[in-house]
Amino acid sequence: MAPYAPRLFRSNCMSTTCVVGILWGDEGKGKVIDFLAADADFVVRYGGGHNAGHTLILPSGKMVLHLVPSGIVHERVTNVIGNGVVVDPLHLVKEIDGVRARGIRIALGENLLISERAHVILEAHRVQDQWHEQARGKGRIGTTGRGIGPAYADRCNRIGLRMGDLIRPDALRAGIERLCSEKNPLFAGAGLPELSPSALFEQLAAAGEQLRAGIVDAGHLLRVAHKANKRILLEGAQGCLLDVEHGTYPYVTSSHASTGGAFSGTGLPPHGMRTVGIVKAYATRVGEGPFPSELHGEMAERLRKAGNEYGSTTGRPRRIGWFDTVAVRYSADLSGAQELVVTNLDVLSGFDAFELVTHYRLADGTTTDRFVAFGLEGATPITQRFAGFSQNLRECRRFDDLPAQARDYVLAIERATGIPVKTISVGPGRDQVILR
Ligand code: GDP
Ligand code: IMO
Ligand code: MG
Repeated sequence: MAPYAPRLFRSNCMSTTCVVGILWGDEGKGKVIDFLAADADFVVRYGGGHNAGHTLILPSGKMVLHLVPSGIVHERVTNVIGNGVVVDPLHLVKEIDGVRARGIRIALGENLLISERAHVILEAHRVQDQWHEQARGKGRIGTTGRGIGPAYADRCNRIGLRMGDLIRPDALRAGIERLCSEKNPLFAGAGLPELSPSALFEQLAAAGEQLRAGIVDAGHLLRVAHKANKRILLEGAQGCLLDVEHGTYPYVTSSHASTGGAFSGTGLPPHGMRTVGIVKAYATRVGEGPFPSELHGEMAERLRKAGNEYGSTTGRPRRIGWFDTVAVRYSADLSGAQELVVTNLDVLSGFDAFELVTHYRLADGTTTDRFVAFGLEGATPITQRFAGFSQNLRECRRFDDLPAQARDYVLAIERATGIPVKTISVGPGRDQVILR
């Protein structure tokens, strides 16, 4: 009999790296993926949908991607929209056109693959998302209004359509029938427009025709690649604190945004993955929900302006807070982050002082350094103050180029989180990076 141990460790390669947002999204994942993709064979989105907005700075200017993975600029990278992603096929067709219009090659079936198991977002999901938000009134979540939650809900209810249905007329017809027969009575009760099976069929079959060459069994291809030790970069969307289970529920998205979703959302086995957590040098959040380190007034306004903190998808002003070591430690532990990338350090230039949250004081008067599931609404931060710096950091390329105050701040982040900060981003450009 073959010895057991070698088989056990056969696939224990570290050729898969997951880049995950550590806070509430918009940490700079797009930039980091674009930077790391130079060394990758595959870049794979594993969750979320076009609620994501990942920014790349190209020689031709800024490009924001919502569904197309952020490795698309690199010629030899195969980009994959994994099964955990919810795909609005009409949006995807438009996004592909937009990327191509910038002179970037997208060949479906070659450098862009879409999992046939990925679920479809319909116009009806968008309508439903907005209806829910309205019905919630003051308790609204502040979703991106793109139908994400209702699409994932239909997946769980087993009435969703999958991308593979779009290129199989019989399956598509049957799936639409099933969906409409369950949704229409509910929609009628809510006063929402009735879904027309024939109109849906026409629209989805047409989108399927345009995407046909790219709709494949992506999980199988990824497992083959993984066995062959190909370098696979998993591109997280949103952030750990928006994870449907581990985030600030109910003020979360509807997917497993932390690394837990990386395996179920791709079909890759849970072997030897390296996790890189992305954090900003301060904190931001879009939408409602608790944000213990949140700043108000002039300081928030100045940071928002300096960091151009407006949503990449909806354009909403992002809420701003200090770097929160309680939240970062929680997410890093949860996601298994072995190293951190700190982005936007350059944005802190010009401030006399800034602060790092070390503990929370909860509404009942107790103090904690734990990111608790209940009670964050009334929490106030306890902070440590740092001297600011005035030097422009955008040209710094070595850790020693940074002013002493900026170095102290990064080292304090390392001490407080217990995780090495191996990369520091000092500007939106691909080359504005310090490696340690
Ligand atoms: P993602 O969703 O995590 O990919 O992040 P977004 O693209 O939504 O938001 C990040 C924003 O910060 C974008 O406008 C980036 O161009 C920008 N950005 C990324 N890294 C840096 C950095 O180090 N400094 C500055 N000033 N901007 C950055
Ligand atoms: P990237 O990948 C920031 C937020 C929304 C809202 C909540 C639920 O660019 O980091 P949803 O539409 O998903 O049901 O909204 O989640 N949200 C994001 N915030 N960055 C994102 O993605 C986000 N995707 C969703 O603002 O609070
Ligand atoms: Mg974003």
